[in-house]
Amino acid sequence: MTPRERALSAALMRVDHVGEVCAQALYTAQALSTSDPALRERFEHAAREETDHLAWTQQRLRELHARPSVLNPLWYAGAFGIGWLAGRAGDAVSLGFVVETERQVEQHLHDHLRRLPAGDTTSRAIVEQMKLDEARHGAAARAAGAATLPAPVRWTMRLAARVMTVTAHRV
Ligand SMILES: [Fe+2]
Ligand SMILES: [Fe+2]
Repeated sequence: MTPRERALSAALMRVDHVGEVCAQALYTAQALSTSDPALRERFEHAAREETDHLAWTQQRLRELHARPSVLNPLWYAGAFGIGWLAGRAGDAVSLGFVVETERQVEQHLHDHLRRLPAGDTTSRAIVEQMKLDEARHGAAARAAGAATLPAPVRWTMRLAARVMTVTAHRV
């Protein structure tokens, strides 16, 4: 890879890593805020699966000689608060939040596959696998009885994700 390609890969991988930091925070907060033991177990299981994604993106950043986002504690705290609110809104809404989050993450990974350097087969393989996993997470939440979120909520989530991705691309 050229230095320019390497920098692009690192920036995209940093964004994906932040996404996984947020996934940890969201699922943990949602597990804590439900009173249904079965749903709590489901969220805890999902958080464990996202741990793999977190490890893969972190490892890839290291291989690219790049740092994770310096704002990770802030991303974690913000996502935890949002996950907590989603959980307090009730189990169906909480599951609906998972469906929408995973759908947005999947779209954004799809976009990264378009932008990642063709020669960076390692990063591409990671993103491909995560994209498959996120689709599965979303489908599972849908099957578990997720409510459809109102459009303004979905737009707000998209906006928040946009702020996160644009910022994490740089720092
Ligand atoms: Fe993930
Ligand atoms: Fe996921």
